[in-house]
Amino acid sequence: SAEELDVRVRAAKERLGDRVKILGHFYQREEVVRHADYVGDSFQLANAAKAHPEAEAIVFCGVHFMAETADLLSGPEQAVILPNLAAGCSMADMADIDQVEECWEQLAEVYGDMDAPDAEGLVPVIPVTYMNSSAAIKGFVGRHGGIVCTSSNAQTVLEWAFARGRRVLFFPDQHLGRNTAKAMGVPLEQMPMWNPRKPLGGATPEELEQSRVILWHGFCSVHRRFTVEQIDKARAEHPGVRVIVHPECPMAVVDAADESGSTDYIRRAIEGATEPTTFAIGTEVNLVQRLAADNPQHTIFCLDPVVCPCSTMYRIHPGYLAWVLEGLVAGHVLNRITVPQDVAGPARLALERMLAAKP
Ligand code: 13P
Ligand code: SF4
Repeated sequence: SAEELDVRVRAAKERLGDRVKILGHFYQREEVVRHADYVGDSFQLANAAKAHPEAEAIVFCGVHFMAETADLLSGPEQAVILPNLAAGCSMADMADIDQVEECWEQLAEVYGDMDAPDAEGLVPVIPVTYMNSSAAIKGFVGRHGGIVCTSSNAQTVLEWAFARGRRVLFFPDQHLGRNTAKAMGVPLEQMPMWNPRKPLGGATPEELEQSRVILWHGFCSVHRRFTVEQIDKARAEHPGVRVIVHPECPMAVVDAADESGSTDYIRRAIEGATEPTTFAIGTEVNLVQRLAADNPQHTIFCLDPVVCPCSTMYRIHPGYLAWVLEGLVAGHVLNRITVPQDVAGPARLALERMLAAKP
């Protein structure tokens, strides 16, 4: 039963003490989050993975790319454990390393030497990947002078990239790329989308010449469900409602909202509101429900009336958490995530550039 699992997790955690740190993403279910030593967005969790060198193991309650990132940033002796190996991310899977390599080769045919700076010292393209991508993609980015971003620092990272390159190749999330670049004043005509099934990604050489941000065709299946109609309805039914959405939502939804920001931005906006306020939130429902429970002074609801959890985040069941913790008690490291050595070096470089990038 749920209570038995709760008791088992607590007992194993107590026996392990400081030997283990449990990190949990905001989208994790309540029965998991309550056991986490640290709860945060993907940027905060990347920092948290670096910050506990004393722990033998980091149990990462989130999805696969986050556990890979934790492995890259934690110490070499530390084991990063993903309680359920099937907890992936459909968006991360949309940037396939072979397709990305092929894209880069085709771009080199248009732009020439990809490493050669022009008269202003800018190379033709800086690759930028959203955290939500495989370690292989982060490694690709690191090898080609690029950088990682999260939804909480995408603008800072794009500024870093524009200081070094004429344009950015952004993957996998077209929406985060478009919403961020648009907010920085990049016109939509200068943001072609690369379709890996078409020659030159389906763009003309002129479009690629004029481009500032080349978008990859990925998206988040949770956030793309939010609509402008839902926002209109929320405004009609709750005059004065504050609408905040995640930047993985489509552009029209971000434009129609009052604000957009990462999961931690949303949390801070709610916790910082001094007057009782009605909030309509466009992000994963587990986070919205927790924010509603933790902030009873406000009225908080999810824009999508049909419950929309991230199905892969949800695969971290407390049963798996109990299983990996009890494994550690018995001396077994189960479900360890290890990034291969050849990928780890450049991937770490791309992550370290992000951690060092300042607004
Ligand atoms: P953040 O934690 O960066 O807000 O990202 C949300 C997300 O989709 C995680 O998978
Ligand atoms: Fe991936 Fe979207 Fe789930 Fe985040 S919410 S893990 S981007 S599918």
